[in-house]
Amino acid sequence: MNYTERINLAPSIDALEKLRVELLGKKSAISEGFSSLKNAAPNEKAKIAAALNLQKEELSNAIAARKAVLEREEFDVKASKEAIDVTLFDFSDLGGSLHPINRAMEEIVEYFLGMNFDLKTGPLVEDEFHNFEALNLPKHHPAREMQDTFYMNDGMALRTHTSNVQIHAMLSQKPPFKMIAPGAVFRRDYDLTHTPMFHQVEGLVVDEKGAISFANLKHILEDFLNSFFGDFSVRFRPSFFPFTEPSAEVDVGCVFCGSKGCRMCKNTGWLEVLGCGMVDPNVFKAVGYENVSGYAFGMGVERLATLKYRAGDLRSLYEGDLDLLERFR
Ligand code: DAH
Repeated sequence: MNYTERINLAPSIDALEKLRVELLGKKSAISEGFSSLKNAAPNEKAKIAAALNLQKEELSNAIAARKAVLEREEFDVKASKEAIDVTLFDFSDLGGSLHPINRAMEEIVEYFLGMNFDLKTGPLVEDEFHNFEALNLPKHHPAREMQDTFYMNDGMALRTHTSNVQIHAMLSQKPPFKMIAPGAVFRRDYDLTHTPMFHQVEGLVVDEKGAISFANLKHILEDFLNSFFGDFSVRFRPSFFPFTEPSAEVDVGCVFCGSKGCRMCKNTGWLEVLGCGMVDPNVFKAVGYENVSGYAFGMGVERLATLKYRAGDLRSLYEGDLDLLERFR
């Protein structure tokens, strides 16, 4: 094996360095050749020196070239060992976050607190007076049937809406006041668009007679929906609720298709988002209020959340769907 072959086969930078000392160091044949130049015949000296220099240069170049190759290889090995696998699971990023339902609820509550509404809560286990009777829901009303309501043995029931808090609020204070009541409600329902437990936010505003009109209601709900959904059109549709008269349902332009018509809005271009109306005189009568006027509204938080976050079907919100939840971190 000649020297250049040995250089090109040096397995490491260390081995190459040893070889360099051997070939070019003080004790190398070349160095010795240079030192013994003085003994050479004068007419030979220049020739020998030129040959030694050439050899030295060739070896130096070969060593430098091999060194560059070895350094490159060493870097590649190191880089492949230290490379970051971006597909690895990052445990540092496992922090939790608000569930989309809580997040939507907080956003709704925030808005109304900003409008000077008081925050109220009421019992989840409720009597028929607060959940039905005082709200002008007569005995034969379908909402009161066993198949729709979870009844307890003692005549109590899981509240079917947050409207019960209206009655608690009116029985415990004098008008004027503005309140919202967020919370869980329960119905015997389970399919693609219904879960047995879901959340609502109730609103109630009461003031002296004539002080509150449908225009006030319309204004605040339009403003709320614009702040919640962004710039979508809003429309009020006549409807019926036992506890309001007149009553309306409120729709927003379909957030999925931009009101063009799609499966989500059943090709109407509109999505129903809440119910509202002027408080029915029978409700005021049930709580002993006289000479007052007021409006009320109620909205489903899951409904608003699935629309705002385009969450697909309602049940996915309860299934611990990580892909969905991670969007909210
Ligand atoms: N309680 C109604 C429901 O559960 C929602 C609702 C509609 C509440 C109209 C209201 C209202 O206060 O005025 O579907």
